[in-house]
Amino acid sequence: LDRLVGLHLPGRRVIMLADATVLELYRAGRFGPTSWTGDTLTFPPGERSKTRETWARLSDQLFELGADRNSGIVALGGGVTGDLAGFVAATYMRGLPYIQIPTTLLAMVDASVGGKTAVDTPRGKNLIGAFHQPAAVIADPVTLQSLPDQVFREGLAEAVKHGLIADREYFEWMESQVEPIQRRDPETLTDLIHRSVEIKAQVVSADERETGCRAMLNAGHTVAHALEQISGFDLAHGEAVALGLMVECQLAEQLGVAPAGLGARVSRLLGRLGLPDRLLQPVDLQAVFPAMLADKKNRAGQIHCALIADLGRMHRTNGWTTPVSPELMARAIAGAAGPPQSRR
Ligand SMILES: NC(=O)c1ccc[n+]([C@@H]2O[C@H](COP(=O)([O-])OP(=O)(O)OC[C@H]3O[C@@H](n4cnc5c(N)ncnc54)[C@H](O)[C@@H]3O)[C@@H](O)[C@H]2O)c1
Ligand SMILES: [Zn+2]
Repeated sequence: LDRLVGLHLPGRRVIMLADATVLELYRAGRFGPTSWTGDTLTFPPGERSKTRETWARLSDQLFELGADRNSGIVALGGGVTGDLAGFVAATYMRGLPYIQIPTTLLAMVDASVGGKTAVDTPRGKNLIGAFHQPAAVIADPVTLQSLPDQVFREGLAEAVKHGLIADREYFEWMESQVEPIQRRDPETLTDLIHRSVEIKAQVVSADERETGCRAMLNAGHTVAHALEQISGFDLAHGEAVALGLMVECQLAEQLGVAPAGLGARVSRLLGRLGLPDRLLQPVDLQAVFPAMLADKKNRAGQIHCALIADLGRMHRTNGWTTPVSPELMARAIAGAAGPPQSRR
């Protein structure tokens, strides 16, 4: 780590930011040899740390350490650490260079790529933030061995999304690699991370500030965000994404933009990867519509979804998202509920 940091942030005094869980794992040698000798700042793990309060405390601690314009930051951890430490780096003395070292699959395939940094506010997630690209992203699949199963699977939902939106072969490769993926075989995971990062990086480079094609990364997410929100964030993001992909594929089928059977194929892969493959509880439509209407992608008070046209291909009209009526949405949600065998 010392060597890689020296390579990408040469001549800088670098300070590491990590949540308490990750820091303990790192110090215990669970990620390999522990070479870090620089200063380290920490905070409690979890989304609840991704606040302006933690941002202020970490920034103050950087002042106390005497960090200046010639300093740098290393963000070691999951997406929470990446977003939070990235926002500290984006704002401290108008911006310090930083390195992302993602240690969750979600952070490797999604959060660490693209330069979005943010903190949450009581009004919603990621409402205060900045675009700030890291000097480097270092993903070591060895760190994934210690992840709790559920956290590991959450990243797989985003990987399935990447196959769906951009690369049929990648989707089919995942269908053929379920066993080594589940066993967290480092070589298989290296291939998976590699392909997902390529896809995300390609989309983001084409549209860094999210005015066009970056919307395709929101496939499944109109429904996912609404389900997360009405669950009071009890539902994990990756699980919500799995459900969202399924519902939105059903939607695409019903609208006639995707071939019949796409939703069933997607839910089969998600289920085999240990992700939810159907809605187990009835969805409160009275609550879900207002939540969907609050989505950033909407225009003119209509729900918009980034829809899949077929494995590896997005549906496009004049934009990257398609308006969806509440009736159709309700029908797709109903179609994604019930016993799995009814759709297999
Ligand atoms: N910036 C972006 O583009 C972007 C994209 C997607 C998600 N996100 C953000 O990412 C966050 C979610 O990320 P996450 O799921 O990684 O959450 P997280 O950072 O909270 O990590 C999940 C849990 O796993 C633990 N952990 C991390 N690495 C570990 C390891 N190697 N072994 C054992 N435990 C480990 C953490 O301590 C934490 O308790 C959300 O805040 C979301 O908004 C950002
Ligand atoms: Zn997501």
